[in-house]
Amino acid sequence: MSWFSEVQQGPPIEVFQLTKQFGEDDFPQKVNLGVGAYRTEEGKPWVLPVVRTAEKALANDDSLNKEYFPVLGMDLFASSATKMLLGEDSPALAENRAFGVQTLSGTGSLRVAAEFLARQVGSTVFYQSKPTWENHRLVFLNAGFKEGREYRYWDANKRGLDIEGFLEDLRNAPEGAVIILHAVAHNPTGCDPTQEQWQQIAKVIKEKKLFPLFDSAYQGFASGDLDKDAWAIRYFVSQGFELVCTQSFAKNFGLYNERIGNLAVVTNNTACIPAVKSQLTLIIRGMYSNPPSHGARIVSYVLNNKELYEQWRDHIRVMSSRIIEMRKRLREELEKLNTPGDWSHITQQIGMFSYTGLNQEQSMHMVKQHHVYMLKSGRISMCGITPNNVGYVAKSICETLTTLPSKY
Ligand code: LMR
Repeated sequence: MSWFSEVQQGPPIEVFQLTKQFGEDDFPQKVNLGVGAYRTEEGKPWVLPVVRTAEKALANDDSLNKEYFPVLGMDLFASSATKMLLGEDSPALAENRAFGVQTLSGTGSLRVAAEFLARQVGSTVFYQSKPTWENHRLVFLNAGFKEGREYRYWDANKRGLDIEGFLEDLRNAPEGAVIILHAVAHNPTGCDPTQEQWQQIAKVIKEKKLFPLFDSAYQGFASGDLDKDAWAIRYFVSQGFELVCTQSFAKNFGLYNERIGNLAVVTNNTACIPAVKSQLTLIIRGMYSNPPSHGARIVSYVLNNKELYEQWRDHIRVMSSRIIEMRKRLREELEKLNTPGDWSHITQQIGMFSYTGLNQEQSMHMVKQHHVYMLKSGRISMCGITPNNVGYVAKSICETLTTLPSKY
């Protein structure tokens, strides 16, 4: 007899399963376009030089110890992260209406935010874009939401945003529904609303009394400019919205496995902040008690050192320009080969991912036949493309669409 014999096998996590399969594959030209993690021109992971500098300084600082952090984490980290998000001159910061809480990367931030909204604000329904990052649903349902719905987002025919469908679905949402918005560099489509479209979205959210939750995993990483990538959130704040924003430092600092994030809260009522913080404290205390220090100390060290901050801004420009360059190269190569279809969306999209338009069968063919690892949805991580493999990736896409054209 075993207490565990009734446990059912769960489905694998596609993105991590691909990484494992890629590692086990001995085909010399294999390419990993699955997981969203930056790679250098040589296809290698990159520890940012400012991170190395900060780590050396921290290792040599004998005043630091391994005592517990407060439940809400490191104050200086959270306030610096919130300032980076909202901008130095943010009215919400000047009026003390915004604060941050250190979390376990973007996912941990989403989990804490969702549990807080479900328990303390009474939210029961959330809306996610169709499609979205595959973890949103699991995190929100685990956190206590009763129902997850989708708003239309991607128009497969035009390979762009379905703004009319998006707005219509928001108009039909029940009051108080939490709307998960991707702050910038939409995952998986790489397709963002324009500023005018964000204004339309904000208008409906206000009229229908919905609650905006921004997921910000790519600030600075998308365009190379921290302010530009925070435009949508800052616009909502300027329109008087209360909101929460879940920030990740995985991509823009390359701190994937340090699990460092921030939950930024903007309210219109400063008097409620102590109560909100006390409830966030209880949620975190009951979940993991308090956060680890390493990532928070690194980010805080860099954001509060003028010289390192400038260097870091250079690093994010290096990463974003490499991706933009690879988008151009991939499109050129595909067009040179007369690959069936229109490839303009590859350069129009922004950020780490591109939604290629390949269907499930074609995407699986890319993996099996060509050893080019990508998600079944047709999403590729642009970071995995390098000057050395771009030709091979393009040829593989071309062959796939020629062999399996009918469903394209
Ligand atoms: C991705 O979308 O590939 C990354 O954000 C990794 C993850 O956790 O899914």
